[in-house]
Amino acid sequence: MSDYGNSPFPEPDVALVPAPGRLSASLPGGGTGYVIDEETEIEAQPGTERVARWLRSTVGAATGLSLPPHTDNWNRILLRILPELAEELGGPESYRLSVDGYVVAIDGASEAGLFWGAQTFRQLLGPDAFRRAPVSANREWEVPAVTLHDSPRFRWRGLMLDVARHFLPKEGVLRYLDLMAAHKLNVLHFHLTDDQGWRVEIKRYPKLTEIGSWRGRTKIGHRASPLWEEKPHGGYYTQDDIREIVAYAAERHITVVPEIDVPGHSQAAIAAYPELGNTDVIDTTSLTVWDNWGISPNVLAPTDNTLRFYEGVFEELLELFPARFVHVGGDECLKDQWRQSPTAQARIKELGLADEDALQAWFIGHFDRWLAARGRRLIGWDEILEGGLAEGAAVSSWRGYGGGIAAARAGHDVVMCPEQHVYLDHRQDAGPDEPVPIGHVRTLEDVYRFEPVPPQLDEEEARHVLGTQANVWTEVMEDHARVDYQTFPRLAAFAEVAWSALPEPGERDFADFERRMAVHYRRLDALGVGYRPPAGPRPWQRRPGVLGRPIDGPPPNR
Ligand code: ACM
Repeated sequence: MSDYGNSPFPEPDVALVPAPGRLSASLPGGGTGYVIDEETEIEAQPGTERVARWLRSTVGAATGLSLPPHTDNWNRILLRILPELAEELGGPESYRLSVDGYVVAIDGASEAGLFWGAQTFRQLLGPDAFRRAPVSANREWEVPAVTLHDSPRFRWRGLMLDVARHFLPKEGVLRYLDLMAAHKLNVLHFHLTDDQGWRVEIKRYPKLTEIGSWRGRTKIGHRASPLWEEKPHGGYYTQDDIREIVAYAAERHITVVPEIDVPGHSQAAIAAYPELGNTDVIDTTSLTVWDNWGISPNVLAPTDNTLRFYEGVFEELLELFPARFVHVGGDECLKDQWRQSPTAQARIKELGLADEDALQAWFIGHFDRWLAARGRRLIGWDEILEGGLAEGAAVSSWRGYGGGIAAARAGHDVVMCPEQHVYLDHRQDAGPDEPVPIGHVRTLEDVYRFEPVPPQLDEEEARHVLGTQANVWTEVMEDHARVDYQTFPRLAAFAEVAWSALPEPGERDFADFERRMAVHYRRLDALGVGYRPPAGPRPWQRRPGVLGRPIDGPPPNR
């Protein structure tokens, strides 16, 4: 894990996840470098006040210590922003943390770097520092004597949450932002709309949520399952909720990238506003928010009316989400209705397009230009390559690496999230106890060994890989306990893929990761995360396997 300089001291065993860049003992013999107690103050130098506040609200709550502002006490946590560290250590998110006998000094190249350093500091305090309240009074809080220099490998370290298939109430999203921060992840890709639900309030189109956020019933398990939950499911975020989520994320240096999925995966919107659908092919007034899984054939009509409608949606969205990137989906748009629709065919002719794929490219291209004119950038799933990639578009490569390779070679930015590797709805084990065993088996080790940059890319092309993200699709995750089970512990392995440099030379050391995970599971316990234990699901986490559809054999593209 460490190759720090010429330190004369042995590497201390502090079990950090994700692994830091350089770590060494800062005192001869290692051991305790510092004890925080009632005397400990926080010296927050300019620009660090938010991080000081975060430390008080987390470490302060867990320890019961008030960590007051610095007066003249030696015993202190010193927070500084030193921009010159960016060059020295590896970019604006780098930090340096050192613990000696007097002080814990956390220096960030930026406020973000400082915040990641504060995350590491919490890990150094031990698993109890992850609780909401002290477990016992009068305990000592020791910090090992270490010096750390750390920076992320990728600038896009993402988690996609699908809140459309199953709604995750606001508190659940805030909780996930905390869990992301604890793992140094910095992009929440917020999948807000799909066939099965529309989850964001749009003031000028109230029926999107009045009608589009509720479905009458829900398929239990995979779409081939015969079981239904016969009760309505739904919910949505008000614009105030979104503002709260975005602000909470920003305090944690997490960017929220909203996704409005077009022109496929749009049945909930069409159920709310039937004129958005292909009205010359089917009676769209009879459509409801979809209650099954899979890919709905009911896609948006490629009309000016649809374009204007979604411009209205995006106008409100841009007010809510300051992120540079806006995700427009673009995946799995079935084109049967466009083939049958005289309106769609007339549009293809009028625009001189080759086919329906080109029509989708025209649709996405419209929003690429529309967003660019407003200082934003479009990102979409790799299907947006079909029919020609819009000029400034970035690609989320999900159907393997192929889309990402093609996009990077064409000079487009890429986020690697191949379904064969980082779709966390896929089961974690082949055993019969695995709940709702959809997809390929992707174990903790598989995720740990995922490499976001494929060898086909040369150095210049590889620079277009902005980073990577794990995707949590929620067809088979009806509540936060299921989301926890599928997401953890694999998100910890993923965080290391996204943050920690590849060892040189060679492969990642899974045995070392497992050793560190023994401690990290205790951190997750303290955080109340219902992860999959290494020995398999707990009794209450099991569920009969008939509800899902495993895919046999090795995943493709391996
Ligand atoms: C996707 O999994 N349809 C992006």
